[in-house]
Amino acid sequence: MLVIALCKGRFLEPSLNLLARAGICFADDVASSRKLIFDSTDQRHRVVLVKPADVPTYVEYGAADIGIAGRDVLLETGADVLQPLDLKFGYCRIAVAGPRGTPPINGAPAMRIATKYPRITIDYYNARGIPVEIIPLSGSIELAPLIGLADRIVDIVETGQTLKENGLEVLEVIAETTARLLINRAGYQTKREEVRALIQSLEKVIA
Ligand code: PRP
Repeated sequence: MLVIALCKGRFLEPSLNLLARAGICFADDVASSRKLIFDSTDQRHRVVLVKPADVPTYVEYGAADIGIAGRDVLLETGADVLQPLDLKFGYCRIAVAGPRGTPPINGAPAMRIATKYPRITIDYYNARGIPVEIIPLSGSIELAPLIGLADRIVDIVETGQTLKENGLEVLEVIAETTARLLINRAGYQTKREEVRALIQSLEKVIA
């Protein structure tokens, strides 16, 4: 049985659709159930539901053979996993944002940047030689500059609606992200046939 780690939240439905189109179906309504483990109707696949940021960890340590997670999460965790496929959904930008009309950086004291992506943020500013102080948050990042907690934020932007409704704008785009298929390195060898069969089915669906 192949164990597949899926994210709870906005990736869940497109991930389940993709699996269904690749022939992996479940008797339970995975999206509405409170259960965390689901076996496919043919008993060949098991889905486990985890927090988006934890998917690479489950795959890296082999608790799951396969996972679906955003490139943003992969960049942030730096997990040592194989990434054979861009699944072509969940497109977002990872961006620096601030209040509309924020002036460019002018060598002032270290800016405070609120983010749930400290690693991506530090890498980005270190590469530019710009000192920053990271304010780590886990959600509602857009609130931080509105309430004086930070000067700017680094977050994912999908439609841009959250920024707009909070008087913020994109200042710089750091990277683009989409959903990726992750594979455990050891599992790619020991469960070679099953893993390759799944990659091939998903490739066909995406094409
Ligand atoms: C994400 C992200 C932004 C928002 C962007 O938050 O952190 O807040 O989505 O989407 P938009 O550009 O379409 O408005 P999420 O909904 O995952 O919740 P969070 O604030 O708890 O991180």
